[in-house]
Amino acid sequence: MTKSKNITWHVGDVSRAERERLLGQRGVTVWLTGLSGSGKSTIAVAAEKKLVEAGRTAYVLDGDNVRHGLNSNLGFSPDDRSENIRRVGEVAKLFTDAGMIVFTSFISPYRADRDRVREAMNDGDFVELYVEADVETCEGRDVKGLYAKARAGEIPEFTGISAPYEAPERAELVLDTRSQSVEESVAHLLGYLEENGYLSPPAEG
Ligand code: ADX
Repeated sequence: MTKSKNITWHVGDVSRAERERLLGQRGVTVWLTGLSGSGKSTIAVAAEKKLVEAGRTAYVLDGDNVRHGLNSNLGFSPDDRSENIRRVGEVAKLFTDAGMIVFTSFISPYRADRDRVREAMNDGDFVELYVEADVETCEGRDVKGLYAKARAGEIPEFTGISAPYEAPERAELVLDTRSQSVEESVAHLLGYLEENGYLSPPAEG
């Protein structure tokens, strides 16, 4: 719902295709979803690095980071998580329109929130990537020590322990980080982008 009245949409003079031809790639949002500790940020950061080293323009939007700034007024209630995802979806859409390869790294536990972002974007602009690792695996890793705190009752509404996670049903990509190394996951992801034309500029039109 838009609150403001009397606002109009201004169309710029530079087309998305022109930007993409300059960058030599297609804009896309790769939406990583999965439990805390599943490997989302690790995969996103490694994929970004590989692409940038190869001369591409890529950018990671990360949950923990975005919550320091843009979303610093949001917590972890269902409503706040939905708003978190809505805002990030809007930012990702803008970056995608600018021709960037965007990796978003948010638990994004609610299917409806992810689907809303998908629906707000053009076909092919949103690639859902399920970073699959069960609670036991993530808890075993417990890189940030948060699962231990959640078990001790120090973090309420912790995803996988005391708050739900709804796994994707129509993800374009699933990476199982229990059986795959980071390098294998990244290779798989970049292979997907290559095969689906995201690493080539659009034809002159
Ligand atoms: S989301 O659910 O709204 O998508 P987001 O990805 O932004 O979550 O933030 C998750 C990160 O916040 C986790 O990786 C963890 O470091 C931290 N965190 C703090 N409290 C919680 C909580 N209650 N549930 C999940 N993650 C939490």
